Amino acid sequence: QPPALVDGFARRFYYLRLSLTDVCNFRCSYCLPSGYRPDGRRDFLCRDELRRVAGAFVAAGTTKIRLTGGEPSMRRDLTAIIADLKALDGLQTLVLTTNGYRLQQKAREWRAAGLDALNLSIDSLDPRQFALITGQDRLKEIMAGLEAAWDAGFSQIKINTVLLKGLNAHELGLFLRWVQQTPVQLRFIELMQTGAQDDYFARHHLRGEGLRQQLLASGWQLKPRQADAGPAQVYLHPDYLGEVGLILPYADGFCQSCNRLRVSALGQLHLCLFGDGGIDLRDLLQSDADQTALQQRIQAALQHKVLGHRLHSGNAGVRQHLASIGG
Ligand code: GTP
Ligand code: 5AD
Ligand code: SF4
Repeated sequence: QPPALVDGFARRFYYLRLSLTDVCNFRCSYCLPSGYRPDGRRDFLCRDELRRVAGAFVAAGTTKIRLTGGEPSMRRDLTAIIADLKALDGLQTLVLTTNGYRLQQKAREWRAAGLDALNLSIDSLDPRQFALITGQDRLKEIMAGLEAAWDAGFSQIKINTVLLKGLNAHELGLFLRWVQQTPVQLRFIELMQTGAQDDYFARHHLRGEGLRQQLLASGWQLKPRQADAGPAQVYLHPDYLGEVGLILPYADGFCQSCNRLRVSALGQLHLCLFGDGGIDLRDLLQSDADQTALQQRIQAALQHKVLGHRLHSGNAGVRQHLASIGG
């Protein structure tokens, strides 16, 4: 039996965020405003390497894997990757975060390959504002993708909305009315600072605490959290079909419940979204014979995981954008 994944603060890691690519076809103003500019040809982990890295985590107690990017559907072999990972013995939940570009076309195929759930980014319900924020005038197609996902049998779809002062914060009422009639979990995310967008952050960052107080004052109640859940606090209301989630990385204690690790599309282990430069795992992904060594390297690295991201005390975050290490 391999050692379980536990860090020096007794936090257990059940959840792996596995990036498939850092390429994206959207130009979200908070993430990749100028689009993706490759610095040379990118040699992303291939199917065998992905299966091996995921296998080592699952053998060490990981129960949930989220496929991220960049935009994971930029990979032509995404459906095959879903099927490969779904076959891992011990994995309970395989999920995906997407911008929805290929959802309408692919939802059924991903579901058939074994994908359990998906998270979809929708930063505005107003087509013009959506185009302004994401650089893609496709709100209608993305909404059709959501319908296709329901039709394909995805029931617990989570929507990601980054809270942006001056860009979508005025749509709060609109979003809440949508949640009243729609069975989704809509998560408002505090904009996180990355090295490349200091001015943007100063102009558009909005704390979510006011919104939390507003929900509590109007009958919303906190839902208990699962061991392999993501960072959202989820709220329920008897009059609403949907749920509201809050992802508040700037709130006190956010990192105390950290239960997740990341592997980038180039095979680097990241202990935190904000911080370390990454620990290379790729040399141990070339053969099935290296599984034990791989688990040992991950376990040893974990002892260096620090308590929190220190975003309040001068850590300006990741150097480029969250897409480079899978968000
Ligand atoms: P669930 O597992 O379904 O709850 O999803 P998730 O919230 O973990 O994943 P998703 O990819 O939808 O991410 C939503 C937002 O949460 C993104 O902006 C992520 O960057 C952010 N996020 C996820 N994990 C962390 C984390 O460990 N730290 C910080 N600061 N942000 C995170
Ligand atoms: N701050 C907060 N959320 C971000 N995302 C990307 N960049 C940032 C950022 N700087 C979100 C996207 C997507 C999710 C995977 O990450 O909106 O919903
Ligand atoms: Fe937008 Fe996600 Fe692509 Fe970043 S990775 S540009 S947030 S769709």
